[in-house]
Amino acid sequence: MRRIQFLDTTLRDGEQTPGVNFNTKEKVQIALQLEKWGIDVIEAGFPIASPGDFEAVQQIAQKVEKMTVTGLARCQKKDIDRAYEALKDAVDPQIHVFLATSDVHMQYKLKMNREEVLASIKEHVSYARTLFEKVQFSPEDASRTEKAFLLEAVQTAIDAGATIINVPDTVGYSNPTEYGAIFKSLIANIQSEQEITFSSHCHDDLGMATANALAAIENGANRVEGAINGIGERAGNTALEEVALALAIRKDFYQCEANIVLNETKRTSELVSRLSGIPVPKNKAIVGDNAYAHESGIHQDGVLKNPETYEIITPQLVGVQQNSLPLGKLSGRHAFTAKLEELGYQLNDADSKEAFKRFKALADKKKQITDKDLVALLADQYREETEQYKLVDVQVQYSSNGYQGAIVSIINEENKTKVASRIGSGSIQAIYNTIDELFQQKPALKEYEIQALTGGEDAQAEVRVTLYDETSQTEVRGIGVDFDVLQASAKAYVQASNHLVQKD
Ligand code: KIV
Ligand code: ZN
Repeated sequence: MRRIQFLDTTLRDGEQTPGVNFNTKEKVQIALQLEKWGIDVIEAGFPIASPGDFEAVQQIAQKVEKMTVTGLARCQKKDIDRAYEALKDAVDPQIHVFLATSDVHMQYKLKMNREEVLASIKEHVSYARTLFEKVQFSPEDASRTEKAFLLEAVQTAIDAGATIINVPDTVGYSNPTEYGAIFKSLIANIQSEQEITFSSHCHDDLGMATANALAAIENGANRVEGAINGIGERAGNTALEEVALALAIRKDFYQCEANIVLNETKRTSELVSRLSGIPVPKNKAIVGDNAYAHESGIHQDGVLKNPETYEIITPQLVGVQQNSLPLGKLSGRHAFTAKLEELGYQLNDADSKEAFKRFKALADKKKQITDKDLVALLADQYREETEQYKLVDVQVQYSSNGYQGAIVSIINEENKTKVASRIGSGSIQAIYNTIDELFQQKPALKEYEIQALTGGEDAQAEVRVTLYDETSQTEVRGIGVDFDVLQASAKAYVQASNHLVQKD
């Protein structure tokens, strides 16, 4: 059977989702979970984009043990040098060089003609090959590139030393018939003495990203790129969990194998959702909460008689119903550490001590501490470490007949406390007006969502907010988890406000 490699770009294209901003610890955490999930290649970032991106790529390169680690670079020597610096410690480094080849991109964005584009591909892929054994080249906007020129661009990259050719459907314009045909034609027409890996990279603007990726595989692609939960630029990328399950469930049809550990799928999805702040829609394929719920009487009756009547994927297969034991008040340090390891965390002593303290405080209020509670607890801890301002206290004065009042205090990195007080038409508005006063900002609250983090009467509240700042035209997100709805709301808003003041 053909073996399909999975390249995950959650930390690069996925982070291009508006409002998504992972810090380095979060990126490392996601990388380790992706390694556990069985990803072959991780695109850890775009090292030249910012010092934060560079640091994250470098740390991931140093920490992962099995995955190939790649970083993105434009056709510019400074990008390639920066990627080399970030990736040089990786067990198996790879560079991903790209340049647009469609007429519209060349004319309006690059202001280059075809000859110049081909010359740049030749120069920069050759240069990348002097530093990296593995060079991947992407002709950006490949699906809208004139076919003969696409072949010329790809052949130029191969002649210059690229052994991996990624074919991006950058604007999500293609469809399975057309996208599959591009692979068929390239594979039939390129000349190479070396084996070339062809890779798909699709965006979901027309809702065809997964179908297109599968069509690429059917037509000879041996690598698929995408992001967990399908996050990414605009409508997002191919959702890798969908491709993984399609290949597994329909092995009879695709006749392909992959390295993905299917029962780590749900956990991977939950981690990315929590750290990105992007909720997974309930009806999302594979990882949505309703994906295994049967509502109609006829379906329920069928499933009770034989699950195969309406269930092509069992929840157990993707790790939805894990018999993992929850922790409680009496659980000791050993059980706690073992559980964190099971969840994929590798904490140093100081972090582990702090996490245990937070766990004990939570266990005093909540009977059973589930995996979701722990992931939220660690996410809070990691976020707070990098936040310029931390929430210290929230007081609300409630009146059933008039304005509500709030007093909020925050502390900055130099341990200076700031306190403010404001009113609002409701308690949450009063808190948010006060936090705006503390941060000296007036963003628009675009989204406010609240839900119970887990089942049960003592479940914590999870609040997600999206803020938009008109002046900097920036969208940011925050998540707060707490027993108290007002406290969770304040946490989410402070987290998002921190993103506004400390843009990378
Ligand atoms: O969508 C795209 O074209 C990309 C490239 C950088 C590969 O993300
Ligand atoms: Zn992309």
